[in-house]
Amino acid sequence: MVAETATALGGVALAPMHRRDLRAVLQIEKRVFPEPWSHTIFASELALRHGRSYKVARLGRRVVGYRGVMFSGEEAHVTTIAVAPEYHRRGVATVLLLDAVASSIEAGANQLSLEVAFSNHGAQALYRSFGFAPVGVRKGYYQLTGEDAYVMFVREIDSPAYAARLADIEAQVRARPALAR
Ligand SMILES: CC(C)(COP(=O)(O)OP(=O)(O)OC[C@H]1O[C@@H](n2cnc3c(N)ncnc32)[C@H](O)[C@@H]1OP(=O)(O)O)[C@@H](O)C(=O)NCCC(=O)NCCS
Repeated sequence: MVAETATALGGVALAPMHRRDLRAVLQIEKRVFPEPWSHTIFASELALRHGRSYKVARLGRRVVGYRGVMFSGEEAHVTTIAVAPEYHRRGVATVLLLDAVASSIEAGANQLSLEVAFSNHGAQALYRSFGFAPVGVRKGYYQLTGEDAYVMFVREIDSPAYAARLADIEAQVRARPALAR
């Protein structure tokens, strides 16, 4: 299992997600996703002792976002990432994604993948800033809406060049005004 320690960047503190966080997580989940995950799905992900990393982002005591990563050999996959709407565009997802990459490298992965809805231009912009590029399409990936998803990948996340990219992103987060508590 990947070691998980609390980290803080830009005033956002990250910590492993626990069942006791699920009420707050689900409140965000239901607000931001047309097909929200259920309590059962999150609980079953958290129950897996290997191959997963779920973290929450807190401002003070409040959960303002979360992310999940699944590890599978050299590939890691972002299973979810979300931020409460009132905290959008303040760098919270960037902090979560920086940490997702770090956890993936620590788990031995050298590439990271995810799916994103065609219409989710905001998330796509976030992913592009981390070097993700579309490599394919999953037709009708989202059951309720029938919307297609791009499969996006970023490769060589364990390379010095990518470390430099991450350092730039982290410097930009540090240059932002700290998020108010
Ligand atoms: C996508 C999401 C996680 C981004 O969270 P966030 O904390 O607002 O993202 P950040 O503030 O770290 O954004 C970093 C950069 O990504 C890009 N970006 C993020 N959201 C954007 C948007 N709505 N429109 C355009 N660009 C966006 C911008 O370049 C942004 O930098 P800037 O604000 O300095 O211009 C958030 O909008 C969300 O929770 N959406 C609903 C759930 C979701 O779609 N999850 C992804 C599923 S694949």
